[in-house]
Amino acid sequence: MSEIETLEAELIGAIDGAADEAALEQLRIAALGKKGSISALMKSLGGMSPDERKVMGPALNGLKTRITEAIGARKSHLAEIALDARLASEFVDVTLPTRDGPLREGRIHPISQVTEEIEAIFADMGFSVAEGPDIEDEHHNFDALNIPESHPARQMMDTFYMPERADGKRMVLRTHTSPVQIRKMENTEPPIRIIAPGRVYRCDYDQTHTPMFHQVEGLVIDKQTHMGQLKWTLEEFCKAFFEVSEVKMRFRPSHFPFTEPSAEVDIGHARVGNQIKIGEGDEWLEILGCGMVHPQVLRNVGYDPEIYQGYAFGMGIDRLAMLKYGMPDLRAFFNSDLRWLKHYGFSVLDVPSLVGGLSS
Ligand code: PHE
Repeated sequence: MSEIETLEAELIGAIDGAADEAALEQLRIAALGKKGSISALMKSLGGMSPDERKVMGPALNGLKTRITEAIGARKSHLAEIALDARLASEFVDVTLPTRDGPLREGRIHPISQVTEEIEAIFADMGFSVAEGPDIEDEHHNFDALNIPESHPARQMMDTFYMPERADGKRMVLRTHTSPVQIRKMENTEPPIRIIAPGRVYRCDYDQTHTPMFHQVEGLVIDKQTHMGQLKWTLEEFCKAFFEVSEVKMRFRPSHFPFTEPSAEVDIGHARVGNQIKIGEGDEWLEILGCGMVHPQVLRNVGYDPEIYQGYAFGMGIDRLAMLKYGMPDLRAFFNSDLRWLKHYGFSVLDVPSLVGGLSS
């Protein structure tokens, strides 16, 4: 065997045996590096006769190419092995039940669950989610919504006022999510299509009222909007939310300073023992207020009511949760009683979606 053949056999053997990329790199330097064995042979070409060089030149170049290729091949083989090992070690069987521990024990509060269900339904209808602060100024909570100083909702009775500030102004805990309408319109050009879920506060306490509760506001502003769209939107929402093909809804004429005309909506249901059935029976529970946005409200945010109109609604999230999941007392929602939370709470892994099922 010639010197070249011996060297090649040696190198190939070492390359095939290299255990990892670092060992392979050592081999590459030892063969092809500046002081490597192949490089040394290349240098010796200079001292050869032309005839010898004619034979040895191509032979050495061939050796260099084959060794470079062998190193490359070994390198990708090693990478494949490493990937296979990683895939095997990080394997997760998603069909296995969860292990005991926080994931199994923890519960999603019905309010969070229902809020996510509502967001999933309205997102599907093209609404996005907006937010506003819990501590509001009177301008956003009342004035801009056309609620005059003399309106009963502004009396101390219902509203929690913060201490008066140096400038004589009082902040309030927002009494509804409607101020988010104003905030959104103040900084957006129409068209607008939003919902705004969040906490609201009123001084009230009995089986169906707590001083803090949850609403979701809806607002649509565009060049052509009407009550029919509002009604359709709410009916579609209720069917999707209660996961039934028919719901009984009652639109009663009502009054809100910030909508004209205005309506309140009740949901028809039956109580069968401890259960609540939606879409049957003749009991009614009020779940929302709604109407066409009042022209004065549009003017207050700088919109021209001759060009833009819209509709708005405000729903009680807690009421919706009570109806859907048959929870009779609202006060229990906020007692943090672990037994209640375990019974009515939702699994962490059940994320509501329209395709996967809202409450399954
Ligand atoms: N903000 C009203 C309430 O809290 C509900 C509502 C919202 C009514 C939007 C009409 C339009 O009772």
